[in-house]
Amino acid sequence: MTDFSQFVPAHIRSLGGYTPGKSPRQAQRESHVNCIKMASNENPWGPSPKAVAAMQAVLNDCNIYPDNDSSDLRDALANRHGVQPDQIVLTAGSTSLLGIIARTLLAPGLNAVTSERSFIVYPIATQAAGGQLIQVPMRRDSFDLKAVAAAVDGNTRIIYVSNPNNPTGTLVAAPDLDGFLDKLPEHVILILDEAYYDFARHFATQRGLDYSHSLQYVNQGRKVVVLRTFSKTHGLAGVRVGYGIGPAELMSYFARMRTTFSVSAPAQAAALAALQDEAHVQKALVNNAEQAERLGESLRELGYEPVPTWANFLYCELGEDAASVAERLQAEGVIIRPLGPWGAATAIRVTIGTPEQNAIFLKAFKRVMERSMVK
Ligand SMILES: Cc1ncc(COP(=O)(O)O)c(C=O)c1O
Repeated sequence: MTDFSQFVPAHIRSLGGYTPGKSPRQAQRESHVNCIKMASNENPWGPSPKAVAAMQAVLNDCNIYPDNDSSDLRDALANRHGVQPDQIVLTAGSTSLLGIIARTLLAPGLNAVTSERSFIVYPIATQAAGGQLIQVPMRRDSFDLKAVAAAVDGNTRIIYVSNPNNPTGTLVAAPDLDGFLDKLPEHVILILDEAYYDFARHFATQRGLDYSHSLQYVNQGRKVVVLRTFSKTHGLAGVRVGYGIGPAELMSYFARMRTTFSVSAPAQAAALAALQDEAHVQKALVNNAEQAERLGESLRELGYEPVPTWANFLYCELGEDAASVAERLQAEGVIIRPLGPWGAATAIRVTIGTPEQNAIFLKAFKRVMERSMVK
């Protein structure tokens, strides 16, 4: 028998794979009840009907390869964001771009810096590229930018900041990031992951806070790459479209590293249509803000302290084994995310759903937690 591990470099052999939130079908098979998914921060209202129609309209042409540069979509995004088209690179989801960025900028001996309890793809992308990820402790469930800056050394090439942060839902305000960026050494590129940008901007307007200067950084020619996605407010997580905005020369290296034709024709059509459907985005934002309030309040009434969110999910410390709570919730028909893989074995992340989904979650959560108090 061949030992295939001998063909695989050590940094790939020791790579921990990504464990996604369970699909409703998988959970239903395991628990034999109908399940709702509140585990992966998707849009509970589904895709825009305009995006669905746009995908249907291109299906008959699917014998033809898609536009490798997603030119129409790229032009529309450049127009929307006030940048040049060559400053934008589209990929099959922004996770794909994270992998490309790491493979382009890192190599054995080089490192990236981020916070602990941040996006689970940063360690995977970094290690797959042969680099080392330095994760600094958090401060009150938030990125500690001082600690991040202090961890940078001569071999650092990337800093990842998830803003808002997944899974804690916390935010770094624009003035703090301005100061941080001003002090960064020349050899480091800041990857500003704004997957939850629309939600955070909506909250920031409500709460009177200066959220993000990310596009200004790009326009000033700073060493910053901004990541955005169609997976969240636009409800297209299953279609896979994301993008980066940054300095044109750097983006051209990332573009070369892409898998050819990786953004499918239906994905390009869907994203272009979703971009025009402001009403669909708005519905998701308004519901999310209202329901974040309601869900947070209900959890507080039950004696928990969810971290105030700037995104479409709540992070909540339970004080007991979260994997077991998640299992019991699944038996009640609700899939949430226990955060053991993030090093927070007693915390959960729950996606903010429709009012009906949140009511189902709360009812199930109460039943499950009451039973664990009785034990
Ligand atoms: C912080 C963060 N970045 C990026 C992504 C990836 O989004 P996608 O690959 O679906 O575009 C997510 C998705 O959950 C996320 O939470």
